[in-house]
Amino acid sequence: RPRVLSGIQPTADSFHLGNYLGAVRNWVAMQETHDTFYCVVDLHAITMGHDPALLRQRTRVAAAQLLAAGLDPERCTLFVQSHVPEHPQLGWIMGCITGFGEASRMTQFKDKSAKQGVDRASVGLFTYPILQAADILLYQADAVPVGEDQRQHLELTRDLAQRFNRQFGKTFTVPEAYIVRDTAKITDLQEPTAKMSKSASTPAGIIELLDDPARSAKKIRSAVTDTGREILFDPAEKPGISNLLTIYSALSGRSVAELVEAYVGKGYGDLKKDLAEVVLEFVRPIQERTRVYLDDPSQLDKLLAVGAEKARAVAAVTLQTAYDRVGFLPPV
Ligand code: TYM
Repeated sequence: RPRVLSGIQPTADSFHLGNYLGAVRNWVAMQETHDTFYCVVDLHAITMGHDPALLRQRTRVAAAQLLAAGLDPERCTLFVQSHVPEHPQLGWIMGCITGFGEASRMTQFKDKSAKQGVDRASVGLFTYPILQAADILLYQADAVPVGEDQRQHLELTRDLAQRFNRQFGKTFTVPEAYIVRDTAKITDLQEPTAKMSKSASTPAGIIELLDDPARSAKKIRSAVTDTGREILFDPAEKPGISNLLTIYSALSGRSVAELVEAYVGKGYGDLKKDLAEVVLEFVRPIQERTRVYLDDPSQLDKLLAVGAEKARAVAAVTLQTAYDRVGFLPPV
């Protein structure tokens, strides 16, 4: 079976629909066909300043949500990044073959550091994509299911794998980004040309899986739509309605064409009302299952410990090979 690795940051109280539709949904599906490794990337979550107690809580909530969304610890390896010290260890080596200019060109770093101001942005934020490359390469992943916003980081990962292999001998599998086009960029409900994001300018633009469904329904009802009245899928001319149709289609399993057909002669309000219902039906069981996992944190922690052990068994072998290729003297 081909190998998969992906990660998600525990930087919010809940995942949003972009995280779910762009990534997590595919993680769940790939358990059937791939050998899957999924991690909650807490090391990445401290690059922009954080609260320690909140991070610990959010790490558990993230793991619980992933299980509630359909990750099965019998079929995938689910773990917390900081439990596997090989990640930052390989990260150091990858950093030493990354160009300073190359890292400076990462658009996510440029955006986030510009927002924070160069004196407040951390070096950890700068080296973030290098650690991400290490996450992936440690597991010899063939495929990395992510949303569109991670494409550039995946390109860097491929470049670094190839560079290391050329310089020190074939060591790493060169991974492919696995990006499902239809749901690769779910957009903000208030600003339908920008991606739905944890750092959105207004909470009204994002639908959180764990949020009160009544609030989510309200956000959907007040989503920015487009001029005109017809319900058509046209991301360039009608980004608001097209985003709602994308979400509706992905959550209901009905094709966009079928939905457009079903809403001929109806208005935006009808579509929003029905979509709110679909979202409600979707989040309800996820919220219930998340609560069950969080009610028994010691069981959850045990599950993550098992995952970490399975992950380490793979990561340690790759790191050992990389250390050897680089020329580190083995301890006796
Ligand atoms: P993060 O935590 O920001 O997001 C998790 C996943 O959700 C996807 N995503 C979206 N997809 C579609 N539409 C959106 N609006 C949307 N917003 C977020 C992201 O593309 C991502 O797949 N750097 C990564 C975490 C990471 C990682 C890794 C990923 C660390 N190491 C190794 C893969 C492999 C990140 O910030 O994800």
